[in-house]
Amino acid sequence: MAKRKLQRFEEMKGMDHVIQPSMDDIKNDAFHLKGKWRKEFFKNENPLILELGCGKGEYSVGMGLKYPERNFLGIDIKGARIWRGAKDVEENEMQNVGFIRTKIDFISHFFDQNEVDEIWLTFSDPQKEKPRKRLTGPLFIERYRKFLKPGGVIHLKTDSDLLYEFTMDEIEKQGYTLLDHSEDVYGSYIDQLDDDWKEIMSIRTHYEKLFSEKGHVIKYCRFQIN
Ligand SMILES: C[S@@+](CC[C@H](N)C(=O)[O-])C[C@H]1O[C@@H](n2cnc3c(N)ncnc32)[C@H](O)[C@@H]1O
Repeated sequence: MAKRKLQRFEEMKGMDHVIQPSMDDIKNDAFHLKGKWRKEFFKNENPLILELGCGKGEYSVGMGLKYPERNFLGIDIKGARIWRGAKDVEENEMQNVGFIRTKIDFISHFFDQNEVDEIWLTFSDPQKEKPRKRLTGPLFIERYRKFLKPGGVIHLKTDSDLLYEFTMDEIEKQGYTLLDHSEDVYGSYIDQLDDDWKEIMSIRTHYEKLFSEKGHVIKYCRFQIN
């Protein structure tokens, strides 16, 4: 492994706001912060919002800066990407943003019933060959249902036609409630938003920039599953 990557992994071990669970935590379903994120990790009773597949965590950090009275957790398996977000949190002296390095497949081991208010899916892998692994597919939605509050909201921002259309079809097929959607965020949609939403939708992640440079059109939808 490259020396710089190793240094970053070492550095993350000393960061209180980066949680790197062991396989034992996951297997025993005894993760010590399950049901206690607000009280023991954030030390407040504020809403909890997850960014799944957060990469460098641009949404967690961006929304965390805008809403200090909300808690954010970015989740990704790639330590080198999380490191960037974790450094941003440190540099901005933020108390309301953390990261978990784990596979999203294990997500329901980390949160208790009704513990989470919202989920953001930012440029999730479309999983062209493996529809079961799509983060808006029934397998993952049933995992989220175990900890998402009634009325909790799921946001998807994506460049992928496949993932966007799949998600819109699932919303209809499964009877979820579609709250808002756009097939072209930076077309006329963003201009119709109020200033707060405009700011949120204008956060551009690392992958969003890469995909936009390739000419991909950015899409968004927001829905409730219960
Ligand atoms: C295309 S990238 C998007 C990253 C970031 N949200 C962005 O927009 O720049 C997808 C991210 O999801 C993460 N990811 C994909 N499947 C995952 C899984 N099952 N568990 C954890 N992370 C996963 C990858 O490591 C990667 O960082």
